[in-house]
Amino acid sequence: MKHAEDLSGILAAVHGEMQSHLGHGKPADYIPALARVDPKQFGMAAVTIEGEAVAVGDADVAFSIQSLSKVFTLTMALEKMGNDLWTRVGREPSGSRFNSMVRLEQEHGIPRNPLINAGALVVSDVLLGQGLPHAAIGRITDFLREVSSDPEVSIDMEVAQSEADTGFLNASLANFLKASGNLHGPVEDVLDVYFHQCALAMSCRQLARAGLYLAHGGADPLTRARVTTPVRARRINAVMMTCGHYDASGEFAFRVGLPGKSGVGGGILAIAPRKGAVAVWSPGLNPAGTSHVGALALERFAALSGWSVF
Ligand code: DON
Repeated sequence: MKHAEDLSGILAAVHGEMQSHLGHGKPADYIPALARVDPKQFGMAAVTIEGEAVAVGDADVAFSIQSLSKVFTLTMALEKMGNDLWTRVGREPSGSRFNSMVRLEQEHGIPRNPLINAGALVVSDVLLGQGLPHAAIGRITDFLREVSSDPEVSIDMEVAQSEADTGFLNASLANFLKASGNLHGPVEDVLDVYFHQCALAMSCRQLARAGLYLAHGGADPLTRARVTTPVRARRINAVMMTCGHYDASGEFAFRVGLPGKSGVGGGILAIAPRKGAVAVWSPGLNPAGTSHVGALALERFAALSGWSVF
């Protein structure tokens, strides 16, 4: 097991190696509020299940977590619905980009997995239930505050509005799901929940801490609170490994070898079962829509730490 001194040496080495890559890649520009960030920023944080936390660079700068939120809403929906969730969403890689419509029509409105947008919209619908969007958004925010042990976690309302103003593909996915009978709530309410969860703003340090229950069989190793069952934690990790980077999930498994989830805000959360969680952020994206420097940094981190599951 790596201890804080080893991990801080590893993170310092990775930080140094990344300097020549900073600024490569292009921030997401399809959501105007995301296009404005400085692409040269880089932060990374790791937390072990023993509670040792190390961080470098901009690890305390809050950024838009975007699709990283899907890991946490999946956890919440599994707690709410149990295995019945899998009747409404699959757990196979899609081989398509995150917001693709193609397979959804071929597969009669059952999304391939909960980490592509169509599947995440079904999950948002589960969390909406019969209630109002702001109640579900409040529960999601509270969940993130609890697992990160930080009551300051909040939503960037400008990003949420920007998502809503430009979310035409998400609206088409939600409408198709509704027409297929796989969305129970009103389309606009489900989208409202989804846009707000994507607009949660968190730092690498908060995210690594928040992911720790997935490295520890579903229980927070520091507060001892049970977040999910050991079986569900194992399955969420499996879905992250196979689907967390959409059509680039194989590449991420090949290069990093950890369950991971990317977001177009430039964040990546990776889980090392029985060891810890690591989050990285750098806003420039590669052509697959993953943080260019973030993926390189995790590849180096996995090599130096021995945290890969393989
Ligand atoms: O659905 C969208 O367009 C975004 N708000 C979230 C996308 C995202 O992060 C996709 N992943 N890498």
